[in-house]
Amino acid sequence: MGENSTATRIAVGIDGQPGRYDVTIGHGVLAGLPEALGEKATRVAVIHPRTLRALGRTVNQQLAAVGLRPLLIEVPDGENAKTAETLTMCWALLGQAGFTRSDAVVGLGGGAVTDLAGFVAASWLRGVPVVQVSTTLLGMVDAAVGGKTGINTAEGKNLVGAFHPPSAVICDLDALRTLPHADLVAGLGEVVKCGLIADPVILDLIQDDPSAATTWDSGVLRDLVQRAVAVKAKVVTNDLKESGEREFLNYGHTFAHGVEQVEQYTWRHGEAVSVGLMYVARLGELAGRTPPELVARHTAALGALGLPRTYRGDRWPALLAAMGRDKKNRGDLMRFIVLDDLAKPGRLEGPEPSMLEEAYRLISE
Ligand code: GLY
Repeated sequence: MGENSTATRIAVGIDGQPGRYDVTIGHGVLAGLPEALGEKATRVAVIHPRTLRALGRTVNQQLAAVGLRPLLIEVPDGENAKTAETLTMCWALLGQAGFTRSDAVVGLGGGAVTDLAGFVAASWLRGVPVVQVSTTLLGMVDAAVGGKTGINTAEGKNLVGAFHPPSAVICDLDALRTLPHADLVAGLGEVVKCGLIADPVILDLIQDDPSAATTWDSGVLRDLVQRAVAVKAKVVTNDLKESGEREFLNYGHTFAHGVEQVEQYTWRHGEAVSVGLMYVARLGELAGRTPPELVARHTAALGALGLPRTYRGDRWPALLAAMGRDKKNRGDLMRFIVLDDLAKPGRLEGPEPSMLEEAYRLISE
């Protein structure tokens, strides 16, 4: 493993108080899970998807070997895990095992599982500790960090949930070895977003060597993960509950969520974010905010990765309706995050409907 075997720790704070938990990034860092659970835990519920059954068993042995009492809870794959039924099943299993406030939950999987596990921990006995072990690139750079937890309902995604920061996050890059390449590349859509809103070195790294950026064990990808986590860590330290700068993390997401809804969640989130970044770059340009050369930077970085930059041209009414339901809106006022310059995000409130549609035409196929 050589130099790759070292662990990097990025501290995340809460409400401006620094260092409340660490995100540990590196190859083989899953070995640190018992230490991350701390000394209080006795029973540990390891919530994992069906596809990670083998890894669940490995973690089970790892925890049992140090005297902990693990309880494996297998849940459906992907968004199918984020249901009231699965949540109720988890509560039942914790109750039957006699889980107390000194016990802990581990979320082992991608963003859907860590969202669910976080909400199980937030709601059990009004809150027990959770350690998030992310196994996807998207989860490492986004969902596992920052304490947003929740489930979906028939009316929409993430409508029920809580802010419940983890006590530790583990990003073992070895998990990326078996991640489908398309999922790895899509995860980089969120990394590009971090580059645009806060850390332009991310864009340089991707454009200088896109092949390394998409190779699971490269130093470049590790650097990208660390930089994206550092961006998120800084933002959520200052604004856990999204009353200010955390909104900037939603750059490109209003249109992306629209695409996801219109496509009935068959698109990878990172691919929808890629198109969403192009849309909002064009919107910012039409509003006289985003300079044309910065729009070109969006195209270049996303293009280097082969991520989509255009979307079908016959979906405007459905997209507009979906964007109208975005959580950033206030009353009838639509709000977007736009860039006034590289790493200078700001808010655009109430753009004209004709401008919204024109931005769509500019990225339509
Ligand atoms: N995914 C955006 C956030 O965590 O705020």
